[in-house]
Amino acid sequence: MLRPATYAERDLILPWRNHPSVRAVSLTTHEIKPEEHAAWWEKRWQNVLIYEDDRGVPCGVVIFDGNTWSFYLDTEGLGDRQLAAWMRLEKEAVDYAFGTLGLETLGGETLEENKQVLALHRRFGFKETRRYERLVDGVPKTVVWTERGK
Ligand SMILES: CC(C)(COP(=O)(O)OP(=O)(O)OC[C@H]1O[C@@H](n2cnc3c(N)ncnc32)[C@H](O)[C@@H]1OP(=O)(O)O)[C@@H](O)C(=O)NCCC(=O)NCCS
Repeated sequence: MLRPATYAERDLILPWRNHPSVRAVSLTTHEIKPEEHAAWWEKRWQNVLIYEDDRGVPCGVVIFDGNTWSFYLDTEGLGDRQLAAWMRLEKEAVDYAFGTLGLETLGGETLEENKQVLALHRRFGFKETRRYERLVDGVPKTVVWTERGK
């Protein structure tokens, strides 16, 4: 299930975002300190959705910013259930975007080297529409923009 985050969930998600495997595929890779996270949370928490697995355990984050989305999971907590959670989360995010939010298109940035997520996006009907270079903590990396319509 995908539901709006509560304000009190601020500290739950920081370790998920700071997990090395999430930082490695992010567009800023430094460890986010609690103060930086708190400042960001004040501004953005109402854009954050929490993904709960079928046991009702919160284990993922989806952020909608207009027609753009991004997501990450509680890699540590999910262990070998990660792949299944990825698929459920992506399905629910698509339904939420086109249903609840009423969007007509949805797109997101993924690093070219993040092959697993690019394959997942393809499976859910996202198509690559452009690619470009972005500096990721000073290192040029290729970012793939994938999007789909309703
Ligand atoms: C992984 C992913 C979410 C990271 O993207 P990101 O741009 O680093 O982070 P977000 O989209 O969450 O954040 C956008 C902005 O908010 C900031 N931000 C995000 N979370 C923050 C936090 N907890 N505290 C402070 N700032 C934060 C980011 O630094 C970024 O700032 P910028 O626009 O000035 O660069 C994104 O690359 C993505 O969705 N990739 C595809 C899916 C994927 O691979 N997911 C991980 C698999 S588990």
